[in-house]
Amino acid sequence: MQETFDILIRNASVVDGTGAPRYPGDIGICGDRIVRIGDLAAQRGKVEIDLAGRIAAPGFIDAHTHDDRLMLSSPDMAPKVSQGITTVVAGNCGISLAPMPHVPQPVTPPLNLLDEDGKWFSFPTFAAYIAELKAKPAATNCALLVGHTTLRVVTMDDLQQPATAQQIERMRGLVREALEAGAIGVSTGLFYEPAIAAPTEEVIAVCRPLKEFGGVYCTHMRDEADRVVDSLEETFRIGREVGVPVVISHLKVVGEANRGRSQEAIDLIEKNMATQPICVDCYPYTAGSTVLSADRAASSSRVIVSWSKPLPQYAGQDLDAIARQMGVSQEEAIGRLSPAGGIYFRLDESDVQRILQYGKTMIGSDGLPHDASPHPRLWGTFPRVLGHYGRLLGLFPLETAVYKMTGLTAKNFGLKDRGVLREGAYADLTLFDADTIDSAATYEKPIAPARGIDTVIVNGAVVWRNGKSTGSRPGRVLNRETQSAGS
Ligand code: ZN
Ligand code: CU
Repeated sequence: MQETFDILIRNASVVDGTGAPRYPGDIGICGDRIVRIGDLAAQRGKVEIDLAGRIAAPGFIDAHTHDDRLMLSSPDMAPKVSQGITTVVAGNCGISLAPMPHVPQPVTPPLNLLDEDGKWFSFPTFAAYIAELKAKPAATNCALLVGHTTLRVVTMDDLQQPATAQQIERMRGLVREALEAGAIGVSTGLFYEPAIAAPTEEVIAVCRPLKEFGGVYCTHMRDEADRVVDSLEETFRIGREVGVPVVISHLKVVGEANRGRSQEAIDLIEKNMATQPICVDCYPYTAGSTVLSADRAASSSRVIVSWSKPLPQYAGQDLDAIARQMGVSQEEAIGRLSPAGGIYFRLDESDVQRILQYGKTMIGSDGLPHDASPHPRLWGTFPRVLGHYGRLLGLFPLETAVYKMTGLTAKNFGLKDRGVLREGAYADLTLFDADTIDSAATYEKPIAPARGIDTVIVNGAVVWRNGKSTGSRPGRVLNRETQSAGS
């Protein structure tokens, strides 16, 4: 009996996202689902793709993004689909586009990483934001977090103080509204100025509704440098007291004095995993990127300016060189450039490799899509893990690398029938060449589609083919499936 599929992928090397060894097979897709995997030589597809032994993997899930606005302002999501990403987790680091009943001017950093002008902060409620994403879908799926810093900005007049009982009550109400609307969790950015004054107890109180909704707590921790252990302990405590899984965002150890301490951090995480759910994500670079500041510049060996509102012509140049051209100190140059963004070289390569290699680490880009000269992680994270770190340096086999960007991530975020290739799963796939896949984005030329990606499919629709977007926008807003809600 001959079946006809909407899409038939022939002669694939199937890497199924569970970490299992690859196997040869054909994949039949009907509608938004994978319906058959096996020998389909006798079958037909309305569209047929012959991979000639190249890889078919689940579409990559970007565990850590700031794509809240990109999905609306550039719905093709080219920086993402070009590297094989089919789902993004947005709203990280305490920064979410919603809810924003009134927009502060100027937009409070780091919220300005999403939109310096503030015109995209146009959703008074989280439900209004989700309604817009559903009305005008992007090319990728998303899972959304509501940001504690956004909640503080819309609730508090003085961000230098702990929230009062009344303010906590209001923020908790906004968390509840977001979770009811479809957010999968709360993020914090306790490292950043608007949330530094928030005591642990404030975070716990604001996050209370997470347990009832089966949400997750994601955090850009208070300190990733000398006090990284204290920050990890604080994170574990929040997870225990609220009763939910925690996600440690972009795990790293910052600063010369802390070189090698990634081992200590991993050991502590591993130990605590025995008693509570803990997840970790990481990007594959020794430079970070965020708002430009003198503090962060002082602890970095090199700084590249990624954008500047008053002096946009300096984007992409080294801070050093800019200060020299201006004939002023670095600190003075930062003052003239701000508001601005920076790329900070301050991580150790062996720490980055150790964290990437750690078996429980998911891959997240932390890309900043609105920067004029963005950190290359925006376009390059996933292919760099597969190519540079996997194939060239041999940090892990391809199957393990794929697991870190698919099956593991779907499990941690509760994304049902995503992140795996099996019959019945959603047809989110990335088809690529294991021998050539790598990032083409560099610090010098950061905007470049990856090498080696053939075709990217989201919910059964092709979104990227032959090096460009197809214009198709099949993305959905995903819910979090938890054990208590049925398996
Ligand atoms: Zn962050
Ligand atoms: Cu981030």
